[in-house]
Amino acid sequence: MKHDLLGLENLTAEQIKHILDTAATMKTIVLSNNKKTPHLQGKTVVNLFYENSTRTRLSFELAAKYMSANAANISSSGSSVAKGETLIDTAETINAMGTDILVMRHSMSGAPHLISKLVDASVVNAGDGMHEHPTQALLDMLTMIEHKGHIEGLKVAIIGDVYHSRVVRSNIYGLTKLGAEVTVGGPSTLMPMDIEKMGVKAYDNVHEAIVDADVVMGLRIQLERQKKGLFPSTREYFRFFGVDESRLKLAKPDAIVMHPGPVNRGVELSTAVIDGDRSVITNQVTSGVAVRMAVMYLLSRGGF
Ligand code: CP
Repeated sequence: MKHDLLGLENLTAEQIKHILDTAATMKTIVLSNNKKTPHLQGKTVVNLFYENSTRTRLSFELAAKYMSANAANISSSGSSVAKGETLIDTAETINAMGTDILVMRHSMSGAPHLISKLVDASVVNAGDGMHEHPTQALLDMLTMIEHKGHIEGLKVAIIGDVYHSRVVRSNIYGLTKLGAEVTVGGPSTLMPMDIEKMGVKAYDNVHEAIVDADVVMGLRIQLERQKKGLFPSTREYFRFFGVDESRLKLAKPDAIVMHPGPVNRGVELSTAVIDGDRSVITNQVTSGVAVRMAVMYLLSRGGF
């Protein structure tokens, strides 16, 4: 039976901890001078990306190569997708070439779930529409553990465009399962009405969400997904909802600052905060390779 990673909603706390423990070991390999292991020797990993990506796509590719897999990338532009081939036909074509792990990013929520039913390869969701981005939340949690020692009892404030964010949904599932308290803050036009049903506190401002936080996470304003009129301008957004040094003072003195990237500088976070001592954004990127190594290794060995 094949195994997939489609989201964190259906994983148990124990499964999430198992991935994070494995990722911590993988991180020692990423940080070493000898980034070559036989964990995926003989396996083939294909990255199928229908949306732009820098860190997710590259980190999956590097993770596969570090573990000695055959790794290939395909994107919608430059492939037969541009000639009108359907998602299902493209996925079945990739599957027929002996692919063991299919990593997929798509603008439609549920696309990897659909493809998972049709292919023999293990499917990893690398971001589906406004639904989930499970490996991003896992790398965020690994980074929090490295800096804070644990997840349980942490107060995590997530600020920004909650409505369009798959990152926030996966983080809420993962963090609440591991015992963190999660608050979300942002413009009410970018806040889903029923978000508190996910077990979080929601605010239409930054200062209430951020008070006493151990972790402050900015979310990208997804300019490509905005419908006109949800907020007046990026300048005004920063004025009311941007995390700058004065707003950060409301969090705990040792709070860390995170962002999934890519950051719109001076919109979600000020440049001083992005480049400041409390920013762990670069470490998130490194954790991303380790988490993707762990996920692909565990999937190839029977799942979580
Ligand atoms: N965080 C994230 O998913 O970044 P990319 O879009 O660059 O992959």
